[in-house]
Amino acid sequence: MRKPFIAGNWKMFLTRSTGIELAKAIAHGLGDAGDRDVLVCPSFALLGDVADAVKGSNVLIGAQNMHFENEGAFTGEVSADMLLSVSCSYVILGHSERRHVFHEKDPTINKKILFALKKNLKPILCVGELLEEREAGSTETVVKDQVTSGLREVGKDSMGSVTIAYEPVWAIGTGKTATPEDADGVHSFIRSIISELYGREISEKTRILYGGSVKPGNVDELMAKGNIDGALVGGASLEADSFLRVIKFES
Ligand code: 13P
Repeated sequence: MRKPFIAGNWKMFLTRSTGIELAKAIAHGLGDAGDRDVLVCPSFALLGDVADAVKGSNVLIGAQNMHFENEGAFTGEVSADMLLSVSCSYVILGHSERRHVFHEKDPTINKKILFALKKNLKPILCVGELLEEREAGSTETVVKDQVTSGLREVGKDSMGSVTIAYEPVWAIGTGKTATPEDADGVHSFIRSIISELYGREISEKTRILYGGSVKPGNVDELMAKGNIDGALVGGASLEADSFLRVIKFES
């Protein structure tokens, strides 16, 4: 059985004070929801303070990106050690905004995945098609390419630390959600790719999150699907009540 996993991606929102306030409200409202993993991913500038704010709770801390080198003259970048030093256990890699706004390519994302794993940071590899790719019928080709390239040279032993997030780009921040059936279909396809690469047992253990306009009003039906193991939530994670309702989905 895969443990449900609800992750909030705060993107470039909130400040030190509003981030701390939100983190405390989530930690407080969460109680002992130990049957699911809960993660928040604030911007780099807020990580240390948010980590302090949730200390002693079940809320996990993740980053939204990371560089693939250990250290060096890379102005504006952040290293794995820096993330570890502020209590991060997860890192989102290959988010569609990194791919499409900042032109990150699969080989770079793969280097980041490999380096995160080497450092014992758990990567969340994001994949998903553009609207025109979906309309052209190439969702599976695009997703297969992104999963296969992202996991290049990732060994079987590391797969327990890898989470995949399927985020159709046309559903992010648009209010449009893939239907639960559509999302479940793509998740099942991703699981079949993992099975081809690593075998059935590992594919059955790998968590695949859905992202794209997940909110209190649609989380229950998404989470009711057999291949949807959790959610990567943007907008609805920026407010305690809505994120807590997403975390406490009923299925
Ligand atoms: P929204 O939930 O705002 O659509 O964002 C999804 C997302 O990109 C999470 O990483």
